[in-house]
Amino acid sequence: MANDIFHYATDRYVNKVVTGQEKGLKPIYLKKYVKFVKRYVKHGSSILDLGCGAGLSSDLLSEDYKVVGADLSKPLINYARKHFKNVKFQVEDARKLSFNDETFDAVMACGFIEHINEVEDVLNEMLRVAKKNGYVIVVSPNWFSPFKAMKAFITPKGYETIGRNRLQILKWFLKSLYYTFQKPINPRYVLRNPDIYGEELVGDDIDMVYIANQYDLKRFFEKKGCKVIKINADTFAFSSIPFLATWLGVVAKKA
Ligand SMILES: C[S@@+](CC[C@H](N)C(=O)[O-])C[C@H]1O[C@@H](n2cnc3c(N)ncnc32)[C@H](O)[C@@H]1O
Repeated sequence: MANDIFHYATDRYVNKVVTGQEKGLKPIYLKKYVKFVKRYVKHGSSILDLGCGAGLSSDLLSEDYKVVGADLSKPLINYARKHFKNVKFQVEDARKLSFNDETFDAVMACGFIEHINEVEDVLNEMLRVAKKNGYVIVVSPNWFSPFKAMKAFITPKGYETIGRNRLQILKWFLKSLYYTFQKPINPRYVLRNPDIYGEELVGDDIDMVYIANQYDLKRFFEKKGCKVIKINADTFAFSSIPFLATWLGVVAKKA
């Protein structure tokens, strides 16, 4: 969380998401997330969909799994409860989950870890509530793909996450080139200090605090004794080319 006021419980964020869902907008990335998960997690498994927001991904996952959807935003969870009856939704703080150790066959999150300052605490919690030989899956936008910065140049407003003017976007582009080659050799978390209030709300990633990267997530899971079986979300375009990949997907098997 980037601020004392929780961005995802504010009226403007909740209204934006709910309006989108009610217009029937089903984000393509959530479908790709679900497709990715299905490659690794057996049909019928019990799963936790963490940071589920207004519940769409949990609903899609419930076609194959017994799903608990959890999120810190009360209004989003209330909305999800009303609209998706196949899923058990609950308000949870991912930094300290209320579930017992080894509760789920798989624990997963999409578009979530990049909003967390306490990355290791949350990953530890995800591992704790996953069963032995179960999976922890993290899917996230890859903001260090130089491709993102290139795209920002041609988008009218750019991506405010990486820069509000062309000079800032150029700086991000150079930084992303550096990290594309540096990260595999020397992974470490890179945190960001967003300023999300007093600005027009442009994208949902404006409060992003951690620049998620497949190599530092891989190193974290390996340090914990997990087997990392995948680092690129191959249901997303260009995912196997770090220079271009716009999303990452890390699959760790708990020992
Ligand atoms: C960008 S939204 C993504 C929502 C959904 N996964 C999606 O892709 O549509 C990030 C979500 O993380 C949730 N979140 C942030 N910090 C959290 C925490 N400490 N515990 C649980 N959820 C948290 C927010 O409430 C929000 O719903």
